Amino acid sequence: MANPFRFGQVVSGELFCDRKSEIKQITQDLSGGQSIVLFSPRRYGKTSLLKAVSKELKSKRILYGHVDFFACNSTEKVVQAVSSAAAKAIINDLKSIEKFIKKSAQFFTRTRFAIRFEPNGTGSFTVLPELSPQATSVDNLSDALVGLNSYLRKSKKRAVVVLDEFQQILRVNSNLEAEFRTIIQQQDRIAFAFLGSRMHLLQDIFINEKRPFYHSAKLIELGPIAQHELTKFIKTRFKKIGVSISEELALRIANKVEGHPDYAQRLCSHIFDSLESNTVSEELVEAGVLRMLVSLTPSLSGIFEELPIRESQVMTLLAEHGPIAKFSSKMLYKYDMGMPSLHKALSSLIRKDLIIKGQAKKYFIIDKFLAEWIREVLKNGGELKY
Ligand SMILES: Nc1ncnc2c1ncn2[C@@H]1O[C@H](COP(=O)(O)OP(=O)(O)OP(=O)(O)O)[C@@H](O)[C@H]1O
Ligand SMILES: [Mg+2]
Repeated sequence: MANPFRFGQVVSGELFCDRKSEIKQITQDLSGGQSIVLFSPRRYGKTSLLKAVSKELKSKRILYGHVDFFACNSTEKVVQAVSSAAAKAIINDLKSIEKFIKKSAQFFTRTRFAIRFEPNGTGSFTVLPELSPQATSVDNLSDALVGLNSYLRKSKKRAVVVLDEFQQILRVNSNLEAEFRTIIQQQDRIAFAFLGSRMHLLQDIFINEKRPFYHSAKLIELGPIAQHELTKFIKTRFKKIGVSISEELALRIANKVEGHPDYAQRLCSHIFDSLESNTVSEELVEAGVLRMLVSLTPSLSGIFEELPIRESQVMTLLAEHGPIAKFSSKMLYKYDMGMPSLHKALSSLIRKDLIIKGQAKKYFIIDKFLAEWIREVLKNGGELKY
C-alpha cells in the first residue's frame, strides 16, 4: 500500500487540500496586474498554493513563470534563473521550442538561449540562457524581463512571475534589491508574486520605508488550513487506501497540528507507517506524534543547537511557559539572565523567525512542534525515543 500522504515537497491535485478562497483571491489580484507578497511560517504551502493558482491563470490565458532563488548563490545564477523562467513562459505560450528559438532575438536583445533535451524520452527540456558576457548583470536581468514584457505587448497578453525564496537575493548581492525594483517597476504586463520561507526578512523588504520595494506589493498572510477542510482531507486520504478513521480522530489531528498542512501530512504519514489494521486508533495517533518528533530530531536539534546559549535559554523558557508577555524574575534568575540579555535574545529570535510577539504582546514559539520537541527533550533528559 502506498503512503497516501506527502510532505516536504510541492503538492498538487488530490494531495492538495482546500485553499479555495486563497486561490480565488490571489488569482484575482495577479490576473488584474496586482503584485503580491505571500508570507507565512515555514511550510504552510506557499509554493504549492502558487502552483494551484498557475492552473487558474492558464485557463485565463495568462502566462506563468516560476523562479526559485533557493539554490541561487551568485548574481549570475539569479539572472539565469529569471531568464530561463521568462523563456519557459514564452515557450509554453507558443507551444513550440522551434518558434521560440526563431523569435527570441526579437524580444531578448542580449541573451541567447540553448535548449537541452533530457535523455529520458519524455520530451522534457531545460532552457540554458547564454548571458551576454559584455553586459553587466543588471543589463542581463533587465533583458530577461523586458524581453518577456515585449513579447506580452506584441501578443496582447499578460504574465505572472513568481519569485520564490525572494529574500535569497539579499544574501547574494546587496545591490540586487534596488536593481530588481527598478527593472520590475518598468514591466507593465507582468504581475509578480514574491514568496519566501524567511517570513521576517521578506516582510521587511516590503514594509520598511527605507527600502526600494516599500509598499510596492500587496501583503498577504497565508494562514492555516480550516479545521473542517483538513479533517475532511485526512479522512479522504486514508479512505483512498481502505483505511478508516473516525471524524473525531481526524479532527483531533487537524487540531493537534493547528491547521498546519505539512505537519498534518507528516503526522498522518507516520500514522500510516505504523498501521497494523485498516482502522486508525487513538493510540496510533499519540504514537504518531512521538514518531514524528523523533524523525524531526536532526532538523530541530540542528536549529536548537546552533543558537547562542542565551537564545536557547529563552526558547526553553518559552517552550515550558509560553506564551509569555512578561518574563518573571524567577524565570530569569534560573538562568542568571538580565533584562538586556533577554531583550537581545528575543529580538534575535524574532529576526530568525523562531518566535513572534503575538496577541496581548505575548511571545511564543512559532513552530509548535519545535516547542513540543524541546519539552519532550527536557522531560527525557536529552534523548527522544519511541
Ligand atoms: N493545500 C495543501 N494541502 C495539503 N498539504 C499541503 C498543502 N499545502 C502544503 N501542504 C503540505 O506542506 C508541505 C510544504 O508545502 P510547500 O512547499 O508548498 O510550502 P511552503 O510554504 O512553500 O514551504 P517553505 O516555507 O519551505 O517554502 C507539502 O509537502 C505538503 O505536505
Ligand atoms: Mg516554498
